Amino acid sequence: MSGYYTIHDPHIERVLLTEEDIAEICSSIGARITEDYRGKDLVLVALLRGGLVFLADVCRHIELDLTLDFMAISSYGSGEAVRIVKDLDDDIRGKHVLVVEDLVDTGLTLHYILSVLSGRSPASVAVCTLLDRRARRIADVPIAYRGLEIPDVFVVGYGLDLGGRYRNLPYVAVVRDEVMG
Ligand code: XMP
Ligand code: MG
Repeated sequence: MSGYYTIHDPHIERVLLTEEDIAEICSSIGARITEDYRGKDLVLVALLRGGLVFLADVCRHIELDLTLDFMAISSYGSGEAVRIVKDLDDDIRGKHVLVVEDLVDTGLTLHYILSVLSGRSPASVAVCTLLDRRARRIADVPIAYRGLEIPDVFVVGYGLDLGGRYRNLPYVAVVRDEVMG
């Protein structure tokens, strides 16, 4: 594993998913998506910003003609109503939409996104997530493709951040409890 800065970063406890683990997940999920969506008009939607890195890797394992689009919503926990900060650029009517997310936690983000997207008459809407932390689930969202179920720990890297940092790590790491308080 390329051992740059987090190995000695005081916030990081351990690596949860190595680059090799992630590559295997992307390859196997990509192959499944290729089979499942053959002959269908597929659009992959990444939720910004975290879902971007996983989308970039998994899309290169999907051997189909497809398009990419991006969406961002304001995060939960800020005390405000959730809203779309950046909407899709393209119309999804009649398309098969696959939402690509870094991590499903309470499920509230996806629950909201799925209800918005479903209202636009797509042919189908499904979810692909790298990580699934079910311990904190509030909204029951259907997950078609899941890389790994993880315990109730805060993670960074590979799109996931702590105050905006660490998204560019090529692996997923666990943040020390002391840091989270
Ligand atoms: P919900 O609770 O709506 O949250 O399913 C999903 C979003 O919250 C972010 N999130 C995290 N980000 N490390 C992160 O860097 C974490 O451990 C973590 N838990 C939740 C995540 O971006 C996801 O889109
Ligand atoms: Mg996110």
